[in-house]
Amino acid sequence: MCGIVAYTGYREAYPVLLKGLKRLEYRGYDSAGIALLNNGLNVYKKKGKVTGELEVFVKDKNLSSTIGIGHTRWATHGEPNDVNAHPHYSFNENLAIIHNGIIENYSALKQDLINKGHVFRSETDSEVLIHFIEDIKENSNCSLEEAVRLALHQVVGAYAIVIMSKDHPDTLFAARKGSPLVIGVGKNEYFVASDATPIIEYTNDVVYLDDYEIAVITKNKLSIKTIEDVVTTPYIHTLELELEAIEKNGFEHFMLKEIFEQPKSVHDSMRGRINADGGRLVLGGLREYLNTLTNAKRVVILGCGTSWHAGLVAEYVFEEFARIPVEVEYASEFRYRNPIINEGDVVIAISQSGETADTLAAIELAKSKGAIIFGVCNAVGSSIPRATHAGAYTHAGPEIGVASTKAFTAQVTVLTMMAICVAKAKGTITETLYHELLVELETVPAKIQKILDKHNQIHYISEVFKDAHNFLFLGRGYNFPVALEGALKLKEISYIHAEGYPAAEMKHGPIALIDEEMPVVFIATKDSSYEKIVSNIQEVRARKGRVIAVVTEKDELIQRMAEFVIEVPHIHEALTPLLSVIPLQLLSYYIAVLRGCNVDQPATWRNLSLSSSPRWGTLIGSERIKNKLKSLNRR
Ligand code: M6R
Repeated sequence: MCGIVAYTGYREAYPVLLKGLKRLEYRGYDSAGIALLNNGLNVYKKKGKVTGELEVFVKDKNLSSTIGIGHTRWATHGEPNDVNAHPHYSFNENLAIIHNGIIENYSALKQDLINKGHVFRSETDSEVLIHFIEDIKENSNCSLEEAVRLALHQVVGAYAIVIMSKDHPDTLFAARKGSPLVIGVGKNEYFVASDATPIIEYTNDVVYLDDYEIAVITKNKLSIKTIEDVVTTPYIHTLELELEAIEKNGFEHFMLKEIFEQPKSVHDSMRGRINADGGRLVLGGLREYLNTLTNAKRVVILGCGTSWHAGLVAEYVFEEFARIPVEVEYASEFRYRNPIINEGDVVIAISQSGETADTLAAIELAKSKGAIIFGVCNAVGSSIPRATHAGAYTHAGPEIGVASTKAFTAQVTVLTMMAICVAKAKGTITETLYHELLVELETVPAKIQKILDKHNQIHYISEVFKDAHNFLFLGRGYNFPVALEGALKLKEISYIHAEGYPAAEMKHGPIALIDEEMPVVFIATKDSSYEKIVSNIQEVRARKGRVIAVVTEKDELIQRMAEFVIEVPHIHEALTPLLSVIPLQLLSYYIAVLRGCNVDQPATWRNLSLSSSPRWGTLIGSERIKNKLKSLNRR
């Protein structure tokens, strides 16, 4: 994901841009650049890192300016190199643009401009856009603002853009459609960014630009119009975000910090919503539409990746407690089908970032078919909460690591609370079960902490298996989505091929893969399918597969069968995913670190430095590690 930061005000812009670009690094990028206005409009950009390459490149330049734009690019059109990096100049170099998103009709626009004599330096769609804006400005003899408006009318695709102009030395022009932009409001200064992280240390007051809005920003004025030329009044939100939430605070990686934050983030997801003693469970954001959800004939859940896995957990909870049929759909498939939405269907869209394009498009499609949409989102003020009719924030705090961890447990917590609310309203659960679930929910943070306290044990298991080429993750019932999530996490950050399967499906094919080189992670807590999963473990052992099992505390049977066990505290079966996922997050994290992977920006790492993959043969049961583990297990 590309990142945007821009500034106009009284400060030196360069340090603001540089710090902002570093804060945006978590999004992953392959090149970075800035533009400043001093003795002309100067663009500096480099392939590689902000610290390693860009900072060195600009060292001897005149960087003094109180206005500037900065960008981290994740290549889409054209390879990662200096020329394709942003900002891009217009043809006559009077304008410079930074752009997130994709201009789908860029080749037709480019051809027209080439026919008019334009020469392009880069292969990017973004450069085409700024040439196009300049062309309109010159040929229609209109203002730059008007040219931006006219150009955006003809653009197909998604964009968040910020433009600087030689002729407007104190003005930024910003616009968005389908890609987020936040404007930070200071005193005699404004900041623009693709998310709030570069802004938060200067101001908590922000304006979220809406789709089809264009902002004209000087150091003491912000005016916003739609691309239909209608003036809109900016609404200032106050962010409740602390700077420390976006810093590593002594952890080696954001991912590790976020894994360890889960006792707090799950607690925050429940804070003010649940009170087991008083038998109270309220989700304020749902109140108005609770009847709609209670009377739903069917619930359709939309999400991608980890959010989709949280949706799978919700399927089990909604069906079990609220007795509503649920379908969980990949938003990325749903949006391209002609899905059937009937009267009485309710859609729940799940997203950490609130900006996932597939999920947003799926929401729009479901809306166009008349569905009422609930959002379960983490990023406050993001696009999905604004596109949905009602919803509940997960309140997990910013998730900076690319691998989703605390977002998953917060999503599952909120979705479970939703299902319990509906079940209570419908009368599909007994008072006793309702109270039991509330009491059990309140125990989750402390139980997660108990698992985290055993992180050393999981580190040792990771050492044993770090060189594996493949992994299988197997679970049943509530632990089936956890198996999928464990496999996704491992492949995403360590590049080990991993499959998640319902354990019962193993005999229908994947069992053929099992031999002494195949680690199999069973999520085998004491629940209604315990006996069945014990049989599955036996099947794997019979084929010499190497078993790592996540089990409930004091489980002696699996302890005897598995090579390694990781214990989690006992909890109501429906809440198991909130605990059983934690060891899998840690396992992926440690394996990735031991393999030398960049866990916070996995895709970037892979793109920049394809390393040879470590060999499996070096392994596998180092006695030292095994003995250490046994002693840890006994504690
Ligand atoms: O922000 P979202 O929850 O909508 O993102 C959806 C997926 O892209 C995301 O969960 C992805 O699968 C994670 N990086 C996996 O760790």
